[in-house]
Amino acid sequence: MSDIQGPDKSARHVAVIMDGNGRWATARGLERLKGHVKGVDRVRELVRACPDFGIEYLTIFAFSTENWKRSEREVTGLMNLFRRYIRGEAETLNKDKVRVRFIGDRSRLDAKLQGLMAELEKLTEKNTRLNLTVALNYGGRDEITRAVQRMAKAVKLGMLKPEEISEASISNFLDTADIPDPDLVIRTSGEYRTSNFLPWQCAYAEYIFTETAWPDFTLKEVVKTLNDYNGRDRRFGATAIR
Ligand code: FPP
Repeated sequence: MSDIQGPDKSARHVAVIMDGNGRWATARGLERLKGHVKGVDRVRELVRACPDFGIEYLTIFAFSTENWKRSEREVTGLMNLFRRYIRGEAETLNKDKVRVRFIGDRSRLDAKLQGLMAELEKLTEKNTRLNLTVALNYGGRDEITRAVQRMAKAVKLGMLKPEEISEASISNFLDTADIPDPDLVIRTSGEYRTSNFLPWQCAYAEYIFTETAWPDFTLKEVVKTLNDYNGRDRRFGATAIR
């Protein structure tokens, strides 16, 4: 149990753009990677607290298809961090009944990392207490492009009829098939962009942008954000009930 008082009710699926690690580190005279290392502490803390907060699905943006443009040192450091996280946390995640899935294009990731990702997915596939989805080499447009390619192949093979293409069947071809759409997207560190993160899935999501950098986004901040979400009136395009 978390010792932080949770919100009265919660979003079922929370997605997070964990921004500001680099700036957090630079502001402290540290190298950028130290910000990512601190960011892992926040991930660990949030994953543990989610069930207490009533969150069933947590999706985190760990590495985008655009992040390869960063320095080689930072990219290598991040990849090492992902490997370390998977190796170091696998047992605890499984013990805590967390099901871990990865979304994104794995083909560009190194073979060792791909292997660890597949192992962790297999190890945790029966867990149901929390669904953690890690977006790694993920870009929304890239995901949609890959889905359209697979759909075109299925049509060519006669396994899918063009008239069967619907919002539901498209959703099933995305990396997130079987995962409900996010209710809330949180972006930290004062950037007001959606950055190609789950564009199809977040069509009706609420967005909350905070000034706090990800390494400082403690559970207290999470609760504040969830309470803010609870105060919102979600209408999905319908009129307000008066
Ligand atoms: C954005 O901050 C953050 C990232 C690109 C990496 C996020 C990765 C982690 C928090 C590591 C933990 C992940 C897992 C799966 C354990 P930024 O570097 O863009 O910050 P800046 O905008 O200040 O430069």
